[in-house]
Amino acid sequence: MQTAGSASNGQTNPLWLLAELTYRCPLQCLYCSNPIDYAKYQNELTTEEWMRVLQEGRAMGATQLGFSGGEPLVRKDLVELAREARRLGYYSNLITSGIGMDEPRIAALKEAGLDHIQLSFQANTPEVNDYIGGAKTFERKLAMARLIKHYDYPMVMNVVLHRQNIDQTEEILQMAEELEADYVELANTQYYGWAKVNRSQLLPTREQVERAEAIAHDYQERFKGRMKVYYVVPDYFEDRPKPCMAGWGSVFLNVAPDGSALPCHAAHQLPGLDFPNVRDASLHWIWHESPAFNAFRGEDWMKEPCRTCPERAKDFGGCRCQAYMLTGDAANADPVCSLSPQHDVVLNAIDEDQVVPPAGQLPMFRSNKNSRQFVESGV
Ligand code: SF4
Ligand code: FES
Repeated sequence: MQTAGSASNGQTNPLWLLAELTYRCPLQCLYCSNPIDYAKYQNELTTEEWMRVLQEGRAMGATQLGFSGGEPLVRKDLVELAREARRLGYYSNLITSGIGMDEPRIAALKEAGLDHIQLSFQANTPEVNDYIGGAKTFERKLAMARLIKHYDYPMVMNVVLHRQNIDQTEEILQMAEELEADYVELANTQYYGWAKVNRSQLLPTREQVERAEAIAHDYQERFKGRMKVYYVVPDYFEDRPKPCMAGWGSVFLNVAPDGSALPCHAAHQLPGLDFPNVRDASLHWIWHESPAFNAFRGEDWMKEPCRTCPERAKDFGGCRCQAYMLTGDAANADPVCSLSPQHDVVLNAIDEDQVVPPAGQLPMFRSNKNSRQFVESGV
């Protein structure tokens, strides 16, 4: 088996394989990062096809495996896939809302060798949690959190922050403490997928972001050694972009439910790129040879100001998907960057979207019906 590191052509191998097992989900989160036209991805990979993807990924050196979705618990073969992941030597992580889990299932996943479970909450109260997720799930999530502890998993709690829950950051951390969380990720919404559609409902103010960050830092100090708190700032409020995916086609390989292989979860939307499918090609060919995975490697694709910027080796020009969504060209600098000539689109979004949404503007929950509308309108 080839180990992680440099392949024969000098291109690094994938280290992180994200298996988006399904886009089906019992929740309807306003900020879901799945594609808004997910309804057209019906043809999910079979168990055997996923097994082959896991095997090929591991043979290329991937060591971290995420089972994600949608809600991966919807898949009946999750225990089988977790068992195969253990056999292959992955460190496997289930990224879940907890809905679809019960005691026999968590016992089976533990026995199969699943290493890690990351449980999401939408908020610290049933009212807000159930509103944002579009489903009554709060009490079941609490029960799930206790089961995770009972089965001796580290309790990893994830809460996506936005205007409608960010002022409860302290209460969210108190809930994490009560649930004896080992890790808490407070991740401000990133504006992809459904979150981009609902940005005017979700974008917080700079003051809200700063207040929440101060509370998170206070908890980081006070709970050192007991509960690790991560606070991820929304990149709209930064003046340099994130080094998205640690660079396109660098360490991260995403396989969508229908087998499309992508360098990130949001790449479907980029025009002019033909993303290969694991049903038609080997992961090795996809990673090393496919035009889509090579499109934004290196620096030849960069335009000014990135092309000559001394910071380009640090952030790779930011996020290709954000550059496309906000400027119409994926090869532009991510406009989060204050050096980008289009930086004003981010500043204007903060000015326009952080106020109460214009009258009559309603949230668009992630749902099959809403997604089909996007498919029909060709968005
Ligand atoms: Fe990064 Fe490009 Fe901005 Fe330089 S100009 S800091 S490379 S996004
Ligand atoms: Fe696609 Fe950043 S999410 S490159």
